[in-house]
Amino acid sequence: MQRVLVLNGPNLNLLGTREPEVYGATTLADLERNLTAWGERLGLEVAPFQSNHEGALIDRLHDERNGVDGVVINAGALTHTSYALHDAIVATSLPTVEVHISNVMKREAWRRHSVIAPACLASIYGRGITGYRDAMRALVNLTTAPPEPLIYGETEHQVMDLRIPAGAGPHPVGIFLHGGFWRGEWGRDTIDTLAVALYRRGWMTANVEYRRLDTGGGWPISGVDVLDAIETLQARSDVDPDRLVLVGHSAGAQLALTAAAAATTPPALVVGLAPITDLAAAHAEGLDGGIVELYMDGAPEDREAAYSAASPIASPSPSLHRLMIHGDADTLVPASQSRSYVTAAAAAGAEVEYVELAGAGHFHVLDPGGEAWAHVLRALPN
Ligand code: DQA
Repeated sequence: MQRVLVLNGPNLNLLGTREPEVYGATTLADLERNLTAWGERLGLEVAPFQSNHEGALIDRLHDERNGVDGVVINAGALTHTSYALHDAIVATSLPTVEVHISNVMKREAWRRHSVIAPACLASIYGRGITGYRDAMRALVNLTTAPPEPLIYGETEHQVMDLRIPAGAGPHPVGIFLHGGFWRGEWGRDTIDTLAVALYRRGWMTANVEYRRLDTGGGWPISGVDVLDAIETLQARSDVDPDRLVLVGHSAGAQLALTAAAAATTPPALVVGLAPITDLAAAHAEGLDGGIVELYMDGAPEDREAAYSAASPIASPSPSLHRLMIHGDADTLVPASQSRSYVTAAAAAGAEVEYVELAGAGHFHVLDPGGEAWAHVLRALPN
């Protein structure tokens, strides 16, 4: 992946002035400057194009089909109606990721349906303009190390992306659980760079999607999904059950730690990157605008048993091999979430390896070139 066409459709020329409460204050010119900078970090040259006309967008796709390696598209309202754009994406065979600035799943019903989505590798929405950065990153990860989707449940959200190394196996497997405060707009693409990094070291990787708030989840459903995904992998003959590692970030670490404690066969290692371990404390501190109450369907005083079951800190398993890593400059999930877990585990006679990274924020721990990842690699079973 070297050159990416970034297409913006109708009305996106008015970014900055158009419904700023929905689309933000960034203008199209600002966005295009950001695209260039984000592209540079990913090693991509960005070719931006905006038009209010369906035919002009289609013509651009045709014209660039031999000039670019992939496409990021925000088709605006054409997303919901244009079969012609769908067909143009298919016709050019260009790998394409769809992006929307607003949370289309939480607006009018007609915005929830994208007719171009079936032609796209991934759909990213509700993350403001940084969604374009995430869409470019997803394009790189999904094309340079293409995964095989494996459905492990009955809904479209119970799916995992498998990357399987050559050879019959059994392979050591890294199971990745993304964060995002259990919100629908944050998906497995956010942790995929780590999955790709581990796959490149010869591991099998499974980047697991699970039902979140707005996608049919919440506690305990999200937790059940993660357990189902783990058991699905444990039942495979190409998976080495003795070298199964869970890596969870943020809310995904809450799911990793609770699933590891509940699994019939525990994993060899659980890595908590900026983990949420104590839901009552997370609720008291109002993390992410009070999301915990929605996830848990009530406040701690009304749902005591559920908070205890969902909080890894309530019953730190004595035998589990754990590595927790937290930045002391994390403003989204404070390092106290890790520190108090380590203290509770010690009181229960359990040992936890804990690394606190000076000056690191919430997303630092997701950088495969960073210190956190070096600690993870060191802790992996041989
Ligand atoms: C949009 C969402 C569409 O529903 C809308 O018609 C747009 C912008 C977004 O970026 O959120 O024009 O694609």
